[in-house]
Amino acid sequence: MEAPAAAHNPAEPGTEQSGAERSGAERSGTVRIVVESPDEMRELGRRLAKLLRAGDLVMLTGELGAGKTTLTRGLGEGLGVRGAVTSPTFVIARVHPSLVDGPPLVHVDAYRLGGGLDDMEDLDLDVSLPESVIVVEWGEGKVEELTDDRLHLLIHRAVGDTTDEVRHITLTGVGERWAAVDLSAV
Ligand SMILES: Nc1ncnc2c1ncn2[C@@H]1O[C@H](COP(=O)(O)OP(=O)(O)OP(=O)(O)O)[C@@H](O)[C@H]1O
Ligand SMILES: [Mg+2]
Repeated sequence: MEAPAAAHNPAEPGTEQSGAERSGAERSGTVRIVVESPDEMRELGRRLAKLLRAGDLVMLTGELGAGKTTLTRGLGEGLGVRGAVTSPTFVIARVHPSLVDGPPLVHVDAYRLGGGLDDMEDLDLDVSLPESVIVVEWGEGKVEELTDDRLHLLIHRAVGDTTDEVRHITLTGVGERWAAVDLSAV
């Protein structure tokens, strides 16, 4: 299915879209977003959650402290799930059941796991995916085989400066699931 021409909202603060990037967005489903604080990151998560449904895989890429867990906290709020989203020291995956009759959020931090889905077999992500939203931090090269479709967020921050709260995010929809979704509406 061809993605429809995206409806853009140039007045939206924090979105960064030149004409060139817009046409890119229509072709490949990639949008770029700038957030300027942890609160804005969380709010982005809440907005993104509105697009998500059971069976969706969200991959978060970005260095330590980029804001992956902060964004996931917003996703959890937007989905209306139980329990605080944290970055636990020992738990690799945590299931947050829905409080609103929606899909549970499965939050995976694969930082300490080796490569490939085999190393994650105990988590049974393939079993839970059809009825869950699965969000994975540090999942590159580990969870792609779960499904052909995924929403990928690349979070970038200025290297070295730990006080800079500006984050540049590249949001890409991969696969049929996201082909017709207008990500620029986020
Ligand atoms: N714009 C921003 N978005 C998100 N977090 C920000 C932002 N600006 C500053 N921060 C701070 O950066 C830190 C991000 O921490 P967080 O745990 O979300 O990162 P992470 O990407 O999950 O790291 P890790 O790889 O260790 O799991 C927090 O302390 C947060 O307050
Ligand atoms: Mg984290």
